[in-house]
Amino acid sequence: MCGIVGYIGREQAAPVLLNGLKRLEYRGYDSSGVAVHSDGSLRVVKAKGRLDVLDGLLEQGTKLPGTVGIGHTRWATHGAPSDINSHPQTSDGGLFAVVHNGIIENYLHLKNHLTRRGVDFVSDTDTEVVAQMLEYYYKGDVLEAIRQVTERVQGSYALGIICADCPEKVFAVRKDSPLIVGLGEGESFIASDVTAILSYTRRICRLQDREIAVLEQDRVSFYDPELYPIEKPAEQVEWDVASAEKGGYEHFMMKEICEQPEALRKTISPRLQDGKVVLDDVCLSREQITRLSRVYIVACGTSYHVGAVAKYAFEKLLRLPIEVDVASEFRYRDPVLDERTLVIIISQSGETADTLAALREAKRQGARTLAIVNVVGSTIANEANDVLYTWAGPEIAVASTKAYSTQLAVVYLIALYMAQELQALPPEELDGYLQELQRLPELAEKCLEDKETIQYFASQYFNAKDMYFIGRNVDYAASLEASLKLKEISYIHSEAYTAGELKHGPISLMEEGTLVIAICTCRRLFEKMMANIKEVKARGAVVLGITTQELADTLAQEADWQFCVPRTADFMLPSMSILPLQLFAYYAASMKGCDIDKPRNLAKSVTVE
Ligand code: F6R
Repeated sequence: MCGIVGYIGREQAAPVLLNGLKRLEYRGYDSSGVAVHSDGSLRVVKAKGRLDVLDGLLEQGTKLPGTVGIGHTRWATHGAPSDINSHPQTSDGGLFAVVHNGIIENYLHLKNHLTRRGVDFVSDTDTEVVAQMLEYYYKGDVLEAIRQVTERVQGSYALGIICADCPEKVFAVRKDSPLIVGLGEGESFIASDVTAILSYTRRICRLQDREIAVLEQDRVSFYDPELYPIEKPAEQVEWDVASAEKGGYEHFMMKEICEQPEALRKTISPRLQDGKVVLDDVCLSREQITRLSRVYIVACGTSYHVGAVAKYAFEKLLRLPIEVDVASEFRYRDPVLDERTLVIIISQSGETADTLAALREAKRQGARTLAIVNVVGSTIANEANDVLYTWAGPEIAVASTKAYSTQLAVVYLIALYMAQELQALPPEELDGYLQELQRLPELAEKCLEDKETIQYFASQYFNAKDMYFIGRNVDYAASLEASLKLKEISYIHSEAYTAGELKHGPISLMEEGTLVIAICTCRRLFEKMMANIKEVKARGAVVLGITTQELADTLAQEADWQFCVPRTADFMLPSMSILPLQLFAYYAASMKGCDIDKPRNLAKSVTVE
């Protein structure tokens, strides 16, 4: 969703804000703007379009002098992308400028209330109501005005605020939307995401719900919702600047695809010790696992697809009932949970609104919660009973790749850990799986060596209008993710089907030249897949098969194209089969000239419902 950055210090604010916004552009990119205290007043420059437009207007920041300011990159929710709807939004009398991420749910009610009292609104945004209310309640004390406003607004918000009367302060407050405060030498920052300020400081404080920060050049003060001063410990961020930069790659997505072996190594190695799985500080004793009656896995998008793989892994290894749910459905369908249920929440960002709500619902019903999260200290990580981090580093491309791979690895670790504690498998079998898990980074490296074959294949089919991904068992779970990857960045329509479902409807879509990508790595179901491939070929489809070496000769008898991935334990095969298909999506999008890192209509971190 939207990205926020704020600065106060000795440097000129506008270039710092633009630099921060560049790193946040993946969160939203339909418009952007900045507001700076300049020569005794608030000056706002904002524009519809990509950040380049704003950059041009500001002549890289030189046009807007001043050392205190806020900036925003927008992903429209209320009001179409336009200059007027861009942030910062300002109050009628020009006293306040506000940048906002989130949704003010009761904004219409508040807007009507203020309109009746003579306040003129100019935009269609929910954010303007915050700026107008601040001015309305302001009686010389900005903190008190913020308190009054946050008491009245409902919904989610991360807000950066400047006031014309306080030229040496930046204010920030948040609820259910991420916001951090960066502490530098003689300068301070606010940002939606640490990547925006990594090149200036790695010391940060995380605001909790309705806490307020007041930034001055040499200090930052924090207040609770009732305006009592509070102390907040600073933490040191481990991510380095390079990890949030392209490092010679044309796109973040390709960089992140190539980083997968290393990300897997960092995620797996520390958790395999002396032939055993060791799960950080997770409290899941043998007794607790034995008492579990059911496991739910809840997530959105790519993270949900990890759950789809997990279902097969958990059921195979543990013989425990598993349900996998999309968070937006789970939260509203009144799921049946109790203290014998384990709810595993998967989220790269740790801030996805639906996933967070699902976590809260699970806790409300007394279930035990375990989160798999990439962003340290994020809301989901803080609120879950236990957290296991994926050590993928910052994922900047909107399309998730290394987060998916590392989430899969953590899911395997959890399943194997539970099997180990329950002694659910013969020791040699468990040992074999642990060795396979240890080898995963090296196998991923091998798999990514041959990019050219996939690039060539993409060059033949990037103009296709539709594609179908089919598979059975974990191959079907991988198909879901492969199909999502392709559609989100190349805009090619694609569907994923369990191969067994073809005859129940989708086969009617097959005609001369239809492209079908058949993932067939599961040995046990290979013959069935061959039969499905024959069926689609008989209707004229062209088939690319993804398989492993020992099945390749047989597959070659039917498939028009094929690509081999290294073999590993059956339930871990999606970790291999997804790699060429991430590459395929990337090359197809690149050949179509799509904006790979920032696909249309999407935003990285979906912090609104
Ligand atoms: C797709 C993608 C999204 C996210 C989804 C959940 O490539 O990245 O589908 O997986 O929005 O996000 P997180 O994992 O941050 O909760």
